[in-house]
Amino acid sequence: MSNIVIIGTQWGDEGKGKIVDLLAEYADTVVRFQGGNNAGHTMVVNGEQFISHLVPSGILQGKTCIIGNGLVVDPAVLIEEIDYLQNKGVQVHHDNLKISERAHVIMPWHKQMDVARENAIGDKKIGTTGRGIGPCYEDKASRRGIRFSDLLDSDVFEEMVRENLKEKNFILENFHSEPGINPDDVIREYTSYAARLKPYVENISETLDRQLKSGSRILFEGAQGTHLDIDHGTYPFVTSSICVSSNAASGSGLGPRSLTDILGIVKAYTTRVGAGPFPTELFDDIGNRIQKKGAEFGATTGRKRRCGWLDMVILNNAVRLNSLTGLVITKLDVLGGLDELKICLGYDYNGNKLDYFPTSLKVLAQCTPIYETLPGWPEDISGIRTYDELPANTKSYLKRIEELSAVPIDIISVGPGRDETIVLNNPFKR
Ligand code: GDP
Ligand code: IMO
Ligand code: MG
Repeated sequence: MSNIVIIGTQWGDEGKGKIVDLLAEYADTVVRFQGGNNAGHTMVVNGEQFISHLVPSGILQGKTCIIGNGLVVDPAVLIEEIDYLQNKGVQVHHDNLKISERAHVIMPWHKQMDVARENAIGDKKIGTTGRGIGPCYEDKASRRGIRFSDLLDSDVFEEMVRENLKEKNFILENFHSEPGINPDDVIREYTSYAARLKPYVENISETLDRQLKSGSRILFEGAQGTHLDIDHGTYPFVTSSICVSSNAASGSGLGPRSLTDILGIVKAYTTRVGAGPFPTELFDDIGNRIQKKGAEFGATTGRKRRCGWLDMVILNNAVRLNSLTGLVITKLDVLGGLDELKICLGYDYNGNKLDYFPTSLKVLAQCTPIYETLPGWPEDISGIRTYDELPANTKSYLKRIEELSAVPIDIISVGPGRDETIVLNNPFKR
């Protein structure tokens, strides 16, 4: 029985939402295991676009959707998203959406602190989404966090809000010169969220274990990407959660042997939103063309995404860190019409070739990409549905990625729609 993990290999926005929506047809349950509403996952079905920030992307296929213990959840955003989906005619109810009682709750001070801190550091800012993700994970690690089980217990919740605000208000007022937060307002606001979300909250580890024992197939939906991972990414220009595949188990309350296949989602080029190193970034007309043709704007913040060539140093880092069993190449259609394409094979650092990603940002800043050039293809491939029909140069580009990564390509995406896809090897059918 297959349980498949979907993971971003680059800096997020690889098209995870589309692929989860596609593969959810063959799964029984879809689980998010980290991050929060910093994620923006896009699905396009019959020409209609849906963007989800917290609800797993299996919801359109009518599957059981689970928000695992590894997430930080803004309850107001979750309620808004449930309403948005219901208004679009999608069934969302507590029998098909479940929230872990161990997931952490994003509080108003987390959001205020996230924005205030970014403003305070000026040009060193990380370019966070401002959703309070980092400060909420900090409180989790420092054992001051509020979990859904605490939110649902009014006495515990009230005490935790008052306790937390003693310290948070001191920092907000005295360090950031920001207005403090009134505990009574927070308690009132969050009590109404608790009432609305209570039916959805349960012990997810137990739920998933029961499902596995009854033979259900589980699809784990990663958010962000390998190079935004708190341990393995371009620290400090990262998010605050563990984005690599091993956290699919821990972040949903299962053991690692429940993960069978790991699919790495690879955008056919590279993008990054927010600040931080990006060796293959393009600052020329080709970069602009890719940005425009790929409609590269953040699904959460609407910011323009930085664009560059495919980087095998990055991809091979992701192969190793995630134990990838297959690749999904997305947005291949966007590269059509370019005379030639470049793939980065390694970095030149003071005359030496590095084929691994340096830990030191100072070293990385002195690295220049070593490129291999491949011929492009003039054709529009977005209407193609079989591998054989792809232009010869498109096939060569794909073959080269397989050779350089030593991982087979299972799925090719040639457009945003669910059906704009070439499935070579469905991991649920292996
Ligand atoms: P995620 O965060 O990894 O789920 O990715 P996003 O949804 O943030 O960004 C991917 C964007 O590319 C979305 O607008 C998708 O609709 C779109 N998309 C996904 N796959 C393809 C593809 O193969 N071709 C094109 N042109 N767009 C795609
Ligand atoms: P999906 O799941 C792309 C980036 C932010 C910023 C950094 C830290 O849609 O691929 P945070 O708010 O998490 O503290 O911001 O991480 N970032 C993402 N970039 N896709 C995402 O998610 C991202 N989530 C966070 O832009 O640079
Ligand atoms: Mg996204």
